[in-house]
Amino acid sequence: MANVAYQAILLLLLVFLSKEAIGFNDVKNSFPNFPPTAIFAFGDSLSDTGNGMQAFPFNMPSENLPYGSTYFHAPTGRFSDGRLIIDFIASHVPTAKAFEDGTYMISVSVNDILSRLLDQRLPPSVVNVTTVPQVVNAISEALRDLHKEGAKNFLIFNIPAVGCTPKVLTLASKGQFNSTDKLGCLEEYNALARKGNKDLELALTLLVKKDLININITVADMYSFHIDAIKSPGDYGFNASETLEACCGYGGPFNYSPLITCGQNSEVKVCSNPGEYISWDGLHFTDAFNQKFVDEMMDGMHYLKPIA
Ligand SMILES: *[C@@H]1O[C@H](CO)[C@@H](O)[C@H](O)[C@H]1NC(C)=O
Ligand SMILES: *[C@@H]1O[C@H](CO)[C@@H](O)[C@H](O)[C@H]1NC(C)=O
Ligand SMILES: *[C@@H]1O[C@H](CO)[C@@H](O)[C@H](O)[C@H]1NC(C)=O
Ligand SMILES: *[C@@H]1O[C@H](CO)[C@@H](O)[C@H](O)[C@H]1NC(C)=O
Repeated sequence: MANVAYQAILLLLLVFLSKEAIGFNDVKNSFPNFPPTAIFAFGDSLSDTGNGMQAFPFNMPSENLPYGSTYFHAPTGRFSDGRLIIDFIASHVPTAKAFEDGTYMISVSVNDILSRLLDQRLPPSVVNVTTVPQVVNAISEALRDLHKEGAKNFLIFNIPAVGCTPKVLTLASKGQFNSTDKLGCLEEYNALARKGNKDLELALTLLVKKDLININITVADMYSFHIDAIKSPGDYGFNASETLEACCGYGGPFNYSPLITCGQNSEVKVCSNPGEYISWDGLHFTDAFNQKFVDEMMDGMHYLKPIA
């Protein structure tokens, strides 16, 4: 099981460096390693810039339109209408440097957790003591391995508010764990994400304090930004009436249908204003959300938590 999570994390993505868009001196002063000088990313479909498409051709919805339609005007294998967080961060990276100077981005494999909850229908109270610790361990192990190879700087993306995603809202609202909070999100699923994120920070703190010397780890707090975007959509240009709806989907209260999903069926409907949506396809984020998140991170350390 842990092996599965580990392999999911080790889908390697390489990154492309550009010299544009520099404007992060505030951040630089308080955190010299952000923005990073080079990026190496490990993650799941939230950070896959096309590896899935190359590894499993003709199997991924993300190789079909309307994926990619907002920014690239063609599918690229990215699970979004446009760019991913990693693309926006890469656009801030000034120059390529040696392997050791790079920053390694790792995102928690949300797919592992969701498949236990939604496909295997395990209760959140079981997943919190089984899959979540495995995923946290897998990240610690990946970090140890990379550190052994000379990597020193890490940016770890935590688990977003899965209980606010159209896919989970649609599938789990009919189940036993259907209580919602005042934002309309599923309480138990978000509690699971918070628990995983707390465990992750604890594990990373132990690594820094006890095991690994000469290392910098920062957590990028996806969970908090996701919640803040739903709480105050207007602050980020999102439409308040669409915070829990997918842009690309097939009706229902959250514009998500498990039978007719984005990129897999031509009957799917795409919103005309993806820039006002948080969710692109029910699970993955829009180009707009990813851009706003990186903007926030670049702007004075919001949502960046150095582990000391
Ligand atoms: C897992 O969830 C259950 C039910 O919400 C809770 O009672 C239990 O304390 C949780 N376990 C941990 C380790 O947080
Ligand atoms: C919500 O969950 C409760 C049990 O926690 C269950 O009795 C009820 O049927 C569920 N509601 C729906 C719509 O499935
Ligand atoms: C970690 O970051 C600090 C500044 O926050 C920097 O001085 C130090 O060189 C970095 N360590 C490594 C191993 O890169
Ligand atoms: C927000 O979305 C609603 C429903 O889709 C729409 O009626 C409204 O015009 C939108 N508001 C803005 C400011 O675009």
